[in-house]
Amino acid sequence: MPHSRTPQTFRVKSFGCQMNVYDGERMGELLAEQGLRAAAEDEDADLVVLNTCHIREKAAEKVYSDIGRLKKTDGRPPMIAVAGCVAQAEGEEIMARAPAVSMVVGPQAYHRLPQLVQAAAQGRRSTDTDMPAATKFAALPERRRTGASAFLTIQEGCDKFCTYCVVPYTRGAEISRPFDDLLQEAEKLVENGAREITLLGQNVNAWTGNDGAQPLAFDHLIREIAKLPEIKRIRYTTSHPNDVTEGLIRAHGEIEKLMPFLHLPVQSGSDRVLKAMNRSHTSDSYLRLIERFRAARPDIAISGDFIVGFPGETDAEFEETLQLIDEVGYAQAFSFKYSPRPGTPAAAMEGQLPREVMDERLQRLQTALNRDQIAFNQASTGKRCKVLVERKGKKPGQWLGKSPWLQSVFFEGDVKIGDMVQVELAEAGPNSIHGRLLETVPA
Ligand code: 5AD
Ligand code: SF4
Repeated sequence: MPHSRTPQTFRVKSFGCQMNVYDGERMGELLAEQGLRAAAEDEDADLVVLNTCHIREKAAEKVYSDIGRLKKTDGRPPMIAVAGCVAQAEGEEIMARAPAVSMVVGPQAYHRLPQLVQAAAQGRRSTDTDMPAATKFAALPERRRTGASAFLTIQEGCDKFCTYCVVPYTRGAEISRPFDDLLQEAEKLVENGAREITLLGQNVNAWTGNDGAQPLAFDHLIREIAKLPEIKRIRYTTSHPNDVTEGLIRAHGEIEKLMPFLHLPVQSGSDRVLKAMNRSHTSDSYLRLIERFRAARPDIAISGDFIVGFPGETDAEFEETLQLIDEVGYAQAFSFKYSPRPGTPAAAMEGQLPREVMDERLQRLQTALNRDQIAFNQASTGKRCKVLVERKGKKPGQWLGKSPWLQSVFFEGDVKIGDMVQVELAEAGPNSIHGRLLETVPA
């Protein structure tokens, strides 16, 4: 039932990628500016924003089941907003199928969330999935809360149109946020305690800007943010192999604050499949690119994304992906079964593969990737490195942070969040490393 009372408390539940996490934080800041308080638990929230992901299967089904489960402590449903990429792709249908939903708001329209909440409080349901050319960012309040490690969206949307991917439809065309706005937001993040910034975008290396005089490329932005003294570390994700520039590769060799980590999705090791995916790179051009990064920064850790079971993928083509994995030696990676996304070209292709084939290939792929991840972690033991303290661990006196190579490191000691500590990587597990604290460098 649509609500008709002004909410006092809210919860934003974000699913999917880091950009959704960032958007979720911004929605929270927007609602806080309106005087709403963040609720500690879902059941305490008068308003719940489901910030959804549409990249793979069952996304919409999950949203409907989440909607059905939402109840406040008094047994009544909260006011519900559906945001994110499922909202963009299936907004009308959600409104028709789920009367409990008061508003649907797309990723480029969430700066208008307060107006939608106001309308909902008066019993009016609304959908806002506009993709305006003017960006939402100017309408958002200043950054307030942040951890030691913060996200900053610099670029959004994608013009690449890989044939399997829904992002160009849900996030829209590529836009770059202006240089000055980004430096201002980075400064605000620093004021609020950020010591590491991860620059976010569907394709960060397509970022372009200007400083009033001349055009700037992505590596210039990194260089300028690195000049903020309080910023100790810079990361970025995600990049497309075709937009990697010589400047970015050089930056890895020149800027100490730029962490030795590269997430560079390849998706497949087969040139035929890559072509059918419209990736416009080959497995060989990808491998050569990795070599150039390694030449600039020999210890750089490589991460990637893989899709198994793309329509028409043969056993031999899948084997080529395993070969590529062997050649690269990934420090970590994400791998997925191909999922037909409605409206994308690949969903209409012949040769859709049975689930069992995809299951089997995914298992083999993940076995290889896990093997390499463990090997990478084991090869790190004995190394001394800095760790940025991000949060408390599960056990008393335990702290968690990341190594320069994005490994989770836990250790014991007298430190606080935001400290940079010198740690010896002592014992490697598959997903984390136990460190021994050597020295604390106050933030
Ligand atoms: N099916 C499976 N995986 C997908 N990805 C994107 N679209 C799909 C899809 N339809 C994966 C890609 C991408 C990552 C963010 O999600 O590997 O790099
Ligand atoms: Fe999707 Fe390809 Fe764009 Fe990545 S580059 S967001 S996979 S279309």
